[in-house]
Amino acid sequence: MTSSASPDTVLPAVDTNAVDDNDGDALAAAASGASLQRTVERSAELEKQISRDPSQFRVLTGDRPTGNLHIGHYFGTLANRVALQNRGVENFLIIADYQVIADRDGVGPLRERVLSGMANYLAVGMDPEKSTIFTHSAVPALNQLMLPFLSLVTDSELRRNPTVKAELEDTGGRPMSGLLLTYPVSQAADILFCKANLVPVGKDQLPHLEQARVIARRFDERYGRVNPSAPVFRAPEALLTGAALLLGTDGKKMSKSKGNTIEIGMDADTTAKRLKGAVTDADRFITYDPVNRPEVSNLVQLTALASGRDPHEIAESIGNGGGGALKKVATEAVNEHFAPIRARRAELEADPGYLQSVLAQGNERANAIAEETLNEVRSAMQMIYT
Ligand code: TRP
Repeated sequence: MTSSASPDTVLPAVDTNAVDDNDGDALAAAASGASLQRTVERSAELEKQISRDPSQFRVLTGDRPTGNLHIGHYFGTLANRVALQNRGVENFLIIADYQVIADRDGVGPLRERVLSGMANYLAVGMDPEKSTIFTHSAVPALNQLMLPFLSLVTDSELRRNPTVKAELEDTGGRPMSGLLLTYPVSQAADILFCKANLVPVGKDQLPHLEQARVIARRFDERYGRVNPSAPVFRAPEALLTGAALLLGTDGKKMSKSKGNTIEIGMDADTTAKRLKGAVTDADRFITYDPVNRPEVSNLVQLTALASGRDPHEIAESIGNGGGGALKKVATEAVNEHFAPIRARRAELEADPGYLQSVLAQGNERANAIAEETLNEVRSAMQMIYT
């Protein structure tokens, strides 16, 4: 970055071209090699700090309300959010409704999905007293951060973002919308508005987090002069979740559109049917070997996650029982694990008034915090005139 020497320049200029190449490469490299290794090590350190003093941390996580939450979401992230909350870390959970339209036409049955998402969150153990659950669209001051943030990134940097590229590919040939291109910036606003310093992510989301860190730093480089000892934003850190990636019942990526998911809210019979139809392989003897036998190992792993047992021990105990026995054990484990969650979920779904009130409370809290942050931003940018 370069600062203009001109005496009447009030604000330092940021040469986005000069910054861009280095930072752009850093973004692209965030999920690989030495950079990934550093993140892994740092995550272990953060875990220790969380245990020592959870009050130092504020976590933000988010989901797009594009469909029902499934057990891949549950074991991949929801359970971890609840665990962090119960360890005493303050949680923010954004239901990213605006993000739904980044890569598709129209919002779908959004209202239903948001309320059913709320029922899932609460049923799996998110506690509205400890966690702020809110919708993106209900927090105008958060969204307004997009404007200054957009001025801090370049289009080439966004185009090179690996997550944006991957999401564009997933749309199967749709042209890139402006919202898809800029959604890392919107996501930076989601994280920075509440000054979250911890974002639990999988490897694939690391470039986003890096983008948020870059934006926080550039903002303070450009406008933090008012009080350099107290930057407006703190750099959020990734907490890499070691969570196993569950595959769908066909052995491919679990995704609602493929009909290969088991939803959190599914009933026990439908769960059994889905698992009965799961793909296995020709070898009757059950082993846990994720590299060579992904489908069978996925069912073993699912059983392990749902029952808390060791996957090798599960495979051994089934041995020659074959795919049929494996599916039976998996079904029992999943249905047993989710029975209380499903019961609670049904109660919550029957009380939409309660779900709405929890959301209203979360939105109110998110708004109060967003307005405070936006005030600091406008004040740093000298945009408060009265
Ligand atoms: N992009 C995330 C998803 O597709 C949702 C999300 C929105 C998010 N804002 C966020 C995740 C901020 C982490 C931080 O599920």
